Amino acid sequence: MAVYRIGSVGLGGISGGVHIPGIRASADLKLTALCDIDEKRLRERAEAYGIPEDHCFTDYRNLIACPDVDAVDISTPNNVHFEIAAAAARAGKPYGIEKPVTMDTAEAVELAKITEDAGVASMIYFSYRYKAAARYLRSLLLSGRFGAIHHVSMQYYQAWGLRNANCPLVWRYVKSIAASGALGDLGCHGLDLVSFVTGQQYTSVVSHLGTIVDERRLLNGEGTGKVDVDDFSNILAEMTGGISATFQISRFNYGRGNYQRMEVYGERGALVYHLDRIPGVDELEIADESTGGKYVTVEIPQEMRVDQMQSFADVLNGCGDGLNADIHDGVVNERLLDAIIESSEIKKWVSLT
Ligand SMILES: NC(=O)c1ccc[n+]([C@@H]2O[C@H](COP(=O)([O-])OP(=O)(O)OC[C@H]3O[C@@H](n4cnc5c(N)ncnc54)[C@H](O)[C@@H]3O)[C@@H](O)[C@H]2O)c1
Repeated sequence: MAVYRIGSVGLGGISGGVHIPGIRASADLKLTALCDIDEKRLRERAEAYGIPEDHCFTDYRNLIACPDVDAVDISTPNNVHFEIAAAAARAGKPYGIEKPVTMDTAEAVELAKITEDAGVASMIYFSYRYKAAARYLRSLLLSGRFGAIHHVSMQYYQAWGLRNANCPLVWRYVKSIAASGALGDLGCHGLDLVSFVTGQQYTSVVSHLGTIVDERRLLNGEGTGKVDVDDFSNILAEMTGGISATFQISRFNYGRGNYQRMEVYGERGALVYHLDRIPGVDELEIADESTGGKYVTVEIPQEMRVDQMQSFADVLNGCGDGLNADIHDGVVNERLLDAIIESSEIKKWVSLT
């Protein structure tokens, strides 16, 4: 296995919380360069991770050009995902990129073409594919034990949008940076996860998106600015395999930190995946004949426990387990997000076939 030298672009919350700890924990990855437009943050992170000054950049193009960077890890806000990933691919460097992968379908399709033409590997960080309970749910469903799946209902709830949380107009509320609100931030994960665990695709969607707090205080403290993205997205989806699925996605759910619940109802039983019922913990309940029809929490096999950034290393080394999302899954996800936005605007079903 080769050790890939990683340059990380965008050193905010998810970078410091997940990407860089994961890169540093992997024997197959080495963090060699950093980039952020915020010079103070760049300096702090460089000191914390021991990266020399000549490997720290405020322009991602210089990081990509650095000869000590073999692959690029991208965790900037959504509006610059495309240009950074495209530049990495054009330079022949594989990339791992945050979700939502791009601002819209057109960008995702173009990025897929650039990636394919360059012949480089890509990975989209659909992080919940790496939850052991979700992986176990997937393997149980695909084993056929529960028969045909009829219904899936997915909730993804956070609370930080609520008025009394008093969050200012951060980039996640600004369409020109985020593309959409709760939909692209949380919904894209839920939509990907349901397709991942069932192995089925979306064929049509109808949705209701809305904004609850449409004005928020500006970050500099002077006055307020307009929120021009959704605070919640409720979606009804038809999927292949005859599944009727529902999604409730919102940042306005009191007491919820990063709460997910997915109920799956099959011909011969049901499964419930939970995240954050106990803070940070993923769990799986099963009900079928073997449990006497009762819902019981099951033990998750050890082999279901995988790490997202180690999976990125495996993708780079050409030995991924096939369960990672690449840019083509990113295109599917972006098509879906665009269809959901369109459906809410025209108040009609939108076909994906
Ligand atoms: N997979 C997940 O579960 C998950 C969780 C949180 C965030 N995310 C995604 O990760 C991305 C970043 O989110 P975050 O919460 O870390 O944001 P953040 O605001 O905390 O950090 C973003 C960082 O990018 C920097 N930046 C902005 N433009 C840049 C540019 N052109 N070049 C270099 N640096 C730039 C900012 O200065 C900041 O330090 C978003 O796309 C978000 O949707 C994914």
